[in-house]
Amino acid sequence: MSTRILAIESSCDETAAAIVTDGRKVQSNIIYSQIDLHKEFGGVVPEIASRKHVEKINQVIQAAIEEAGVSWDDIDAVAVTYGPGLVGALLVGVSVAKALAYAKKKPLIGVHHIEGHIAANYIEHEDLKPPFMCMVASGGHSHLVYVKDYNQFEIVGRTRDDAAGEAFDKVARAIGLGYPGGPKIDKLAKEGNKEAIVFPRAFMEDAPYDFSFSGLKSAVLNYLNGCDMKGIEVNKADVAASFQQAVVDVLTDNSVRAAKDYGCTKLALAGGVASNTSLRENLKQACDKAGIDFYFPSPIYCTDNAAMIGVAGYHEYMCGTRHGLDLNAVPNLKIGER
Ligand code: KG4
Ligand code: ZN
Repeated sequence: MSTRILAIESSCDETAAAIVTDGRKVQSNIIYSQIDLHKEFGGVVPEIASRKHVEKINQVIQAAIEEAGVSWDDIDAVAVTYGPGLVGALLVGVSVAKALAYAKKKPLIGVHHIEGHIAANYIEHEDLKPPFMCMVASGGHSHLVYVKDYNQFEIVGRTRDDAAGEAFDKVARAIGLGYPGGPKIDKLAKEGNKEAIVFPRAFMEDAPYDFSFSGLKSAVLNYLNGCDMKGIEVNKADVAASFQQAVVDVLTDNSVRAAKDYGCTKLALAGGVASNTSLRENLKQACDKAGIDFYFPSPIYCTDNAAMIGVAGYHEYMCGTRHGLDLNAVPNLKIGER
């Protein structure tokens, strides 16, 4: 008999719902992106995000159920992201999930957003099973996670300051590309020379798998200011390519080294930055060289979506996780916390 999960995600600026069966089969994956609303402010405005979630969430859930062609009788549990994320945004999803679980008498399962990003890899890779190393790089998080089992995680490395996606967004803003910066830098970098400007790569001596991107961000800003003061015209494509290569080098080096040190034969990539073409190519090459199998989700499963929450929710369901109606949004929820 199959197990079907209705999943809800509203931790940042995507209102999303999905129906996932047996932890791998996505029957529907509806995403209402608020990006256009936040663009003019250069980043996500929390209050606007919460209000838009309230407006859209019922429609999005209804669409997910209809597109999957299922009824409530076919749904075994309701899974929802309860952290980390913006508190007001999370609260919308959590409140709706609690109301539905109560009204339809279904178990409620709170899911960790990052565990969801990691689980996105299971959707298209039947052969991927723990243990493996996972590099999670998104707008809010940069973590290197050792996935011991479907619901057992060890954080091996983390960012000391900015997340990788945040660095992409800030540099994009500085060169006038707008929000969200990642995809725009990715595109522009293809026209630039990645060796044109030497930007710093930060490696931590005391914590060999940690990251730091704020020094790199400052180096790019200093370079732009320097050009401005000297009246030199900036080649934006070269800046994009050189900056991107610095991020890619650090993410690649740390994750492949961690995979080797932990004896992993598999490395997966997750989070919004996982759709970066240069990062995928670099990691693929490095993994091939090291004899490691490399996995990454399609772009639609890299950025925030509810299908990934349905997959992670399925594994929580199978191991007996059940939350009560006192489930609350936890903006700084730690990985592995229940
Ligand atoms: O996972 P996500 O949708 O949201 C968070 O949980 O934070 O990630 C969004 C981040 C943004 O910072 C965006 O600029 C970045 O992912 N991103 C990219 C690319 N596509 C999205 N960064 C680099 N290259 C891309 N192609
Ligand atoms: Zn995310």
